[in-house]
Amino acid sequence: MSYVAQGPGQNLHAFAFSHLRAEHPRMKQRPLVIWMTGISASGKSTIADALDIALQAQGRFTCIVDGDSVRGGLCRDLGFTDNDREENIRRVAEVARLMLEAGLIVIVALISPSAASRHYARSIIGNESFVEVHVDAPLETAEQRDPKGLYKKARAGLIKNFTGIDSRYDLPIFPEVHLNTQALSVEQSVEAILDWVARNDART
Ligand code: ADX
Repeated sequence: MSYVAQGPGQNLHAFAFSHLRAEHPRMKQRPLVIWMTGISASGKSTIADALDIALQAQGRFTCIVDGDSVRGGLCRDLGFTDNDREENIRRVAEVARLMLEAGLIVIVALISPSAASRHYARSIIGNESFVEVHVDAPLETAEQRDPKGLYKKARAGLIKNFTGIDSRYDLPIFPEVHLNTQALSVEQSVEAILDWVARNDART
């Protein structure tokens, strides 16, 4: 892993800890960060949950980091301006990196709307360990689903900077996995990601 933490005006020298190796010695798995991006109600959390269960059934060690839950704790001081979203994504990427170093398969579910911030997350985690999964649903479909009633509120002007309404979502151009959630069942989406995990294990 080439990433070195930088702090303004500090003399930081990251120690090359010996636990930072490709496969965790006891967990017998290659750690990975599965970064799920997509608009609200695209299905990120649902797929993350089913994926987590499937990976655990394979005897793997996992952890989920979900936007709605980190925003109640680690990131509770942040809102939805571009700058705050960027900071939200940076913090989650740093946490995911620590979990990756602990040997886990980390499942992140964040809207992460800007291509630049997803790119930054990838640079924090390391390209070889980062799997970008685009959980793709057209805005009209997400708006029809609207499980939390947020699109309705955003349309009524009660929520500002809502992704897809008055805040942009940059479509991923080359995600490692693209999930068309209108065509695929949750199980099929999970299968597509499991394929990636298996291929990662087989890498030499
Ligand atoms: S991100 O843009 O910074 O990646 P994140 O995934 O953490 O977003 O949080 C998204 C969740 O916050 C949504 O699922 C929704 O429940 C809630 N939310 C509240 N306000 C907004 C908003 N303006 N835009 C998008 N999601 C919002």
